[in-house]
Amino acid sequence: MQAFTYQSGKLFAEGVSVDDLALRYGTPLYVYSKNHLRDRYRAIASAMADVKPMICYSVKANSNIAIIKTLVQEGAGFDIVSGGELFRVLRAGAEANRIVFAGVGKTREEIEYALKEQIAFFTCESEPEAARISECAKHLGVKGRIAFRMNPDVDPKTHKYISTGKKENKFGLDLARTLQAYELAAGLPNIEIAGLHMHIGSQILSAEPFGEALEKVKDFCKTLKAKYPTFRHLDIGGGLGINYKPDQKALDPKVYAAALLPTLKELGLQVWLEPGRSIVGNAGILVCRVQYVKDSHFKKFIVVDAAMNDLIRPALYQAHHEILPVTATDKTVTGDLVGPICESGDFLAQDRELPDVKQGDLVVALSAGAYGFSMSSNYNSRPRAAEVMVDGTRATPIRQRETWEDIVRGESL
Ligand code: LLP
Repeated sequence: MQAFTYQSGKLFAEGVSVDDLALRYGTPLYVYSKNHLRDRYRAIASAMADVKPMICYSVKANSNIAIIKTLVQEGAGFDIVSGGELFRVLRAGAEANRIVFAGVGKTREEIEYALKEQIAFFTCESEPEAARISECAKHLGVKGRIAFRMNPDVDPKTHKYISTGKKENKFGLDLARTLQAYELAAGLPNIEIAGLHMHIGSQILSAEPFGEALEKVKDFCKTLKAKYPTFRHLDIGGGLGINYKPDQKALDPKVYAAALLPTLKELGLQVWLEPGRSIVGNAGILVCRVQYVKDSHFKKFIVVDAAMNDLIRPALYQAHHEILPVTATDKTVTGDLVGPICESGDFLAQDRELPDVKQGDLVVALSAGAYGFSMSSNYNSRPRAAEVMVDGTRATPIRQRETWEDIVRGESL
């Protein structure tokens, strides 16, 4: 579905006018479409239905508990990367046996928390981590289930900061070393070998790198399955790309599925997926209000009340977010859409054709549902934005705007 459309010249989120939302909840404001979320989840579930996958939404993409709860209701599992994310998904009602825990730096405290909650398995990034999981499990008198993360060394052709499956990345172990790691882990007293994991990167727009990676681990999985009776799971990570520009084509879950299903069926393992962006990315927008229009001799700057602390993707990855006016206009200007933060990297759009807006007008950044709010900060002591979820004609606040009091909470004089 198209969640954000113009109706009589005004931008709507599903059946609610964005103008109204900005008046009711203020700006900067994140607005999410509940039906878009559900749609995207269902598209992946139906494309991959032949292997009955466990779809573990990657919580880091957007960790608001109302978003998580919507996906709990769809039957999702969750890919988490910290104790904080485990706390969130449990708070939202997730079932522990649908949770997988990734990340290169899990602490003892986080591991013990996850073991006590009996999550499905840890995706394990190194031999010392397996040793630590075993120690923690021993301490609690349980077994720690692990799936080593294998780094297949494929190029996902995405931004270098979000490419994770090449040999120079910090993630996982190479093929030869993974085999040794399984042998070592199998000898640890409190470890159960549950499966294998990979995740090659994010915002990947073609199915080929996924197919290539799966091909690389296929025989290895067969060996492991024969060797360890408890080896039953294959977690192929997330990474499906979305369209950030009108002329860009998202990776269709059906195309992704067609490339992977034959091999997955042949392997006969329980398949786990970890999509984040492809579920929530285009379900969200960031609404901001124009504070000033500043014409320098060189350039036009549209200064809005959202900044890099609200949406860091343009500054960090030179990411493109479409900018739309809330009241439709055909008139455009060329320039930058910037925030109030004291850095030249503080822009939402740079050297772009932008809507010709005036002081007081509203504009939105599209495709801001993934890695938008979840990467936001209080830099420049700016309270983080409010978040609202729209379902048809109903809007529900799902996070209050922070206050200045919130910002100093926990500090002492
Ligand atoms: N699984 C693992 C182990 C991951 O590290 C990630 C993302 C995912 C799944 C979900 O990937 P997705 O389906 O969302 O592509 N902040 C960056 C993206 C960082 C991705 C980190 N890992 C951005 O804004 O583009």
